[in-house]
Formats: sequence, C-alpha cells, structure tokens
Amino acid sequence: MIIIKTADELKLLRKKFIEAKKDVGFVPTMGALHSGHKSLFQKSLVENDVTIVSIFVNSTQFNDRSDYANYPINIEKDVEILEQSGVDVLFLPNYEVIYPDNYNYRINEYLFSKTLCGRTREGHFEGVLTVVMKLLNIVNPKRAYFGEKDYQQYLLIKNMCQSFFLDVDIIKCPTVREVDGLAMSSRNLLLTKQERETAPHFYKILSQPYTIKKTEEELVNFGFIIDYIEDLHNRRFGAVYLGKVRLIDNVKL
Ligand code: PAF
Repeated sequence: MIIIKTADELKLLRKKFIEAKKDVGFVPTMGALHSGHKSLFQKSLVENDVTIVSIFVNSTQFNDRSDYANYPINIEKDVEILEQSGVDVLFLPNYEVIYPDNYNYRINEYLFSKTLCGRTREGHFEGVLTVVMKLLNIVNPKRAYFGEKDYQQYLLIKNMCQSFFLDVDIIKCPTVREVDGLAMSSRNLLLTKQERETAPHFYKILSQPYTIKKTEEELVNFGFIIDYIEDLHNRRFGAVYLGKVRLIDNVKL
C-alpha cells in the first residue's frame, strides 16, 4: 500500500490513474477502523480498479472539544487493516495540508443540515461538507462510499455533489452491526463495559413499531439521554447519549 501525506503527491498519482484509465474508488474516514469501514473498502475494491482511503480526524466537524480530544486514534492498527484488505493507497494528511486557508473558506447548507444532528451539533455539518469537498477535489474519484449509519451526512454529501456539479457517484452502504445489533462506530470504543451492555437496546427500541413518545420512554427507562428521535424521509432517526458517548442510528420505517 502506498502512503501519501500531501495533496500535491496525491494529485500527481491520481493523474497517473486517469492516464491509465483506472477507475478510482474513495473511502474517506477518521480512522479507528472497524468492520463498518471494511465493508466500504470491500465494495470499493470490487467496483473500482484502485481504492484510495483517507484517514483524517477532522477537527472542524467536532462541536465538542472533549469529543475531539477523546476521539480514538490507532494508526498502526489501521494501516494493518488497510493492507490486509488490499487497499491501494492511504491518504494521511495533517491539518496544514487540508486547511492551508486555516478554515476561512467553508461549505454550508442552510436547511437540512440544521435539522436532526445539526440542531445540537453547531458547525458539525459545515466541517463535514468542507472537508469532504476538499478531499473529493484532491482525490477526484469516480465513486465515493459512505455508510447509512450517518444517513443525514450521506444525504447532505450527495446533494452537495449534485449542487456543485461534481462528477462523482456517492454510494450508500448498509450499516454494519455487532451481533447484538449495535451499529458499528469508532465511538463504541469509548463505552464502559456496562454502557456497552446497554447500548444494543438503542437499535432494538428504535426498530420497534412504537410511537416516538413510547420510543423515547423506553430509551429513558434503559438510561439513555435523548438528543432526538424523529421520523423523516420514511426513516426513524435517533441520537442518544450513554454517559458521555453520543450514539446515532436510523432504521427504515
Ligand atoms: O463519517 C466520517 O467518518 C466523517 O464524517 C468523514 C466523512 C470522513 C468526514 O470527516
């Protein structure tokens, strides 16, 4: 696997792939890779000639400083997972590479990004859309892969690409779950043993044909603190806290 740290080097390599008429698939991540990420690389590896994965813990999308400070990082293990999966290129930039403008230029969406997670996570989607636009411009892939667990993020990115006429297919991949139903997430590593035992009830309760009120009551009984439970686009979306850890999930209605 080739590891690249600068935008210029990656653009040069990308030019070579274009000249060789190779389709590039791209999976942007913030590292702490798990089976949910693996399913994205695997899909990209099947559908493209070359797969590029980025690892960049994007500080601008963390509205909560301590969430950023505690975000799990394990680059050595991640590199091992990527190599074993057969990923071709790892893009590993730092803040200066991604934000030479020091985040003075930003991408904003003024409607959907202010709902669901955007209601309480001030600036979160601004950070996500800005970094994804930058990464897509550097990598210039034919296809880019995003998980359904972050469904609002997926929709915002897809619509951003349409709105700015980017030539990239945004591909949605199903949520990968632990055997007990908990959606895989890098933040699951931060749950205490007891919280980890309670966490699967989030998905179990969200999947029941309950009213929103009954869903909220059941979750509170298990000790979850509710950020929101909402039905939208034929899906039930939820965000809850277990101790300090924020969990999100969504199910088809
Ligand atoms: O879903 C994520 O891990 C991040 O939001 C993304 C898309 C890599 C942007 O930093």
